[in-house]
Amino acid sequence: MVTGSTGGIGAAIARGLAAAGAAVVVVGRREEEGAAVAKELPRATFVAADLSRRDAHRRVLDTALDHFGRLDILVNNAAVNALGPAIGATEEDFDRLVALNYRAVFFLTQAALPALVASGAGRVINVSSIGTIKTFPGGAVYNSTKAALDNLTRSWAQEHGPDGVRVNAVNPGLVADGPMAAPVQAFLDIERDVIPTIPARRLATAADVAAVVTFLAGPGADFLNGVILPLDGGLTA
Ligand SMILES: NC(=O)c1ccc[n+]([C@@H]2O[C@H](COP(=O)([O-])OP(=O)(O)OC[C@H]3O[C@@H](n4cnc5c(N)ncnc54)[C@H](OP(=O)(O)O)[C@@H]3O)[C@@H](O)[C@H]2O)c1
Repeated sequence: MVTGSTGGIGAAIARGLAAAGAAVVVVGRREEEGAAVAKELPRATFVAADLSRRDAHRRVLDTALDHFGRLDILVNNAAVNALGPAIGATEEDFDRLVALNYRAVFFLTQAALPALVASGAGRVINVSSIGTIKTFPGGAVYNSTKAALDNLTRSWAQEHGPDGVRVNAVNPGLVADGPMAAPVQAFLDIERDVIPTIPARRLATAADVAAVVTFLAGPGADFLNGVILPLDGGLTA
């Protein structure tokens, strides 16, 4: 199950997991886009859901279990951003970000854990952000919701490692073809201000994120648990 896979990085992750042989549950609000992503994959179904609503979580999981009979991998990718100085952040934006980026991840994963434990090799992969390790002005609300996600990653790794579940996070820097990067690209000169700070001298791509998530979901990553993995071309090295 990949949340927020109606487009962007989530759709790339869905394609990567499908190419590795997974049946995929595509989740998001946009029905046409979600159905189109599911249609292009060999074994997939789409569930339309607003995950910031508590009542969506059980329904999404039940649909997945009804459809495929089990759940092995949960990728918490759906998130929203709101950039701007913390001093001007509105309560509305704060609540919107917390509701999806933190609260929804907590309760969806809580609801999924029994199925992930039953799987015998359950995986939770949280799509976090490099902003939890290297902060930047204007990102306080977003980065702190992702920092909560990093802590959940480590807490769940402790609590459910003995059940065979592995919980890891991937923390990308700016993703060139990730829609969430667009507002940042509008006010920053990427070539002049960002690329020179990255030792690999390029931005991440959605394909980079998908490749790492696919690795974390696969058997080669069985001894990785509770890892916060910077996917940043060396920015924070
Ligand atoms: N782009 C970057 O530079 C970058 C860098 C670091 C980390 N990330 C992380 O990567 C992930 C994907 O980002 P992206 O760039 O691909 O942005 P995006 O296209 O805006 O992706 C967000 C996804 O979440 C879904 N979503 C939003 N609100 C939702 C809700 N209430 N309920 C269910 N789904 C919802 C959206 O689908 P619907 O609109 O259909 O609901 C969309 O598919 C996010 O976790 C982001 O924080 C991105």
